[in-house]
Amino acid sequence: MSFNDYVERKGSDSRKWDLKGMYEMASYVDESSIPMWVADMDFKAPEFVQKALIERIEHGVFGYNIAKESYFESIKLWLKNKNNWDINQSWIVPTSGVVPALCYAVKAFTEVGDGVIVQNPVYPPFRGSVELNARNVINNPLKLIGDRYEMDFDDLEEKLKEPKNKMMILCNPHNPVGRVWKKDELERIVTLCLKYKKILISDEIHSDLILFNNNFTSMGTLNDDIKNYLVVCTSISKTFNLAGLKASNIIIPNNNLREKFINEMLKVGSKPSPNIFGAIGVECCYSAEGEKWLENLIVYLEENYLYLKKYLEEKLPKIKCLPLEGTYLAWIDLRSLNLTNEELKVKLEQEAKIVIDGGEIFGNEGVGFIRLNFACHRSILEKALERIERALKNY
Ligand SMILES: Cc1ncc(COP(=O)(O)O)c(C=O)c1O
Repeated sequence: MSFNDYVERKGSDSRKWDLKGMYEMASYVDESSIPMWVADMDFKAPEFVQKALIERIEHGVFGYNIAKESYFESIKLWLKNKNNWDINQSWIVPTSGVVPALCYAVKAFTEVGDGVIVQNPVYPPFRGSVELNARNVINNPLKLIGDRYEMDFDDLEEKLKEPKNKMMILCNPHNPVGRVWKKDELERIVTLCLKYKKILISDEIHSDLILFNNNFTSMGTLNDDIKNYLVVCTSISKTFNLAGLKASNIIIPNNNLREKFINEMLKVGSKPSPNIFGAIGVECCYSAEGEKWLENLIVYLEENYLYLKKYLEEKLPKIKCLPLEGTYLAWIDLRSLNLTNEELKVKLEQEAKIVIDGGEIFGNEGVGFIRLNFACHRSILEKALERIERALKNY
């Protein structure tokens, strides 16, 4: 597969591309808009995945399926090879997504009215999974120091110390700020969670998308004691662009926590088992072929990011594209333009016809920023940047 093969996605019932009439979209978003929002890449799934799915479809019978031993073995091997994390197969709980898993975790490990710590600006469903389940979001905001986001550990300790706050949800790599947290940063979180005996959910959905030779550390590899408080979320959905297969795997080493988590699933009639196509996706992707495909993807993503950064530096120097360590989501600082969120939306979505995620959806700390998904064909990126330049050059 060449990532440079253009794929027309309009008309494929794509949430990203078939925007017209979608409830999230303003009325001025139309057929000519270029979508650079939701975390979904414009690339085809790996050919070996397509082939395996076709073979399965040709069988023609799609009754209840089981997850084979080889399904669990592929996850175990992938985590060992990629992250040097030795897991036990029994720790794996398949779910239909990471967001549902966050909701199960909130319900399993906290009570109504308890606090759950998140680090704004952050992926909105972190707060949603807490609020929709009548728990309280406790914000431990990230600090922007120069052009790099860092954690505020003093504030985190104050919040973890509070008995009502029972759990923390960490995003690593962090969506939207693009940090791949360093081992020493993660160790400080582990120390604090252990000190105050708090549950730690580590959402590692973007952990295979590590750019520019940064090093990813999985929470699971840090310390044996934290395993009794730890839930790690993994998925093929971002890495291999297979979100529609709804196949995530949640790793919960502690038996008691795992039982509570599965119990929450069962209460809503959901079984810890992958769907028939998701199971194929996982087993195909977590393989040597998957690794090779991913290596090529990373090259394309890095080139796109560098193109984007250079373009903005040259044509719109007041706008700052922050350094990116992981993910395919650029976090762009437009605060120097002094535009309100609304004005920015009008400029970018109405005039430039670019659909972006306004920074405010990631929490107040994101006001004045946008998140731009650059996992697209280079020609689309070029077109989008020209449009952005035209709309903003006079500011
Ligand atoms: C940090 C993070 N977690 C979870 C998800 C979504 O996971 P799923 O589609 O498996 O529910 C995303 C999607 O963008 C994400 O960025």
